[in-house]
Amino acid sequence: MVVHAVVVAAGKGERMGAALPKPFLPLAGVPLFVHTLRSLTRSTLLQKIVLVIAAEYEPLCRQLLEQHGPLRLPMLLVHGGQERQDSVRLGLAALDPDCDIVVIHDAARPFIEAEIIDASIKSAAEHGGALVAVPARDTIKRVNPQGGVVETVPRHDLWLAQTPQTFRVALIREAHARAHTQGITVTDDVALLEWAGGTVAIVPGDGRNFKLTTPEDVALAEALLKMGTARLHP
Ligand code: CTP
Ligand code: MG
Repeated sequence: MVVHAVVVAAGKGERMGAALPKPFLPLAGVPLFVHTLRSLTRSTLLQKIVLVIAAEYEPLCRQLLEQHGPLRLPMLLVHGGQERQDSVRLGLAALDPDCDIVVIHDAARPFIEAEIIDASIKSAAEHGGALVAVPARDTIKRVNPQGGVVETVPRHDLWLAQTPQTFRVALIREAHARAHTQGITVTDDVALLEWAGGTVAIVPGDGRNFKLTTPEDVALAEALLKMGTARLHP
């Protein structure tokens, strides 16, 4: 079974409000995307990584990889697009023709554990698609545009989607191509399989696999690193 990853790192990081996009921000002295790549290389099943970056940051990206490498897996750099969905589609297009399973992961989630990646790969091989997710913990309210509470949404069957989102390559490629042709925009890759009628199984995730989105998240990630509880790998 040939298993490759597409890691998307071509966003602007607007909510972070930093001078550089999120993947290049230092976390305990090492760029965020290098932490993420190191975590992925701990998987026993992954064989190659396609890293999707913004064209203008390719020189910086190469320099940081040189400085903090080498990584245990071969890597290919690809230029991303306007939306995350475009970046994933362009990453999928660059996979080797013999690739069976693709692990799609946000560069902004450095705390992913190898066991969870490998569970998602096995689940995708069996079901077609696999979503790493955690059950919703808080009570969830629907709110009107004026800021008033409308109702409580039962949460027993609600899960919060993370990445990796892992698929048989042919299924997700086909779904992306059809969505692109028909101008369908979604916020994650599993939504494309839902739309295309595929099967996606849940793989229970881990609260530590959060996505760094705002400056507070950087502070939290650094605190986790200092405590040693997040098990970020050297
Ligand atoms: N991403 C990407 N290409 C895009 C947009 C996003 O590759 N056109 C990547 C980001 O780099 C990130 C992941 O998708 O690793 C998740 O997206 P998000 O957290 O929204 O990151 P940004 O889009 O960079 O942040 P923001 O939405 O605050 O601008
Ligand atoms: Mg974004």
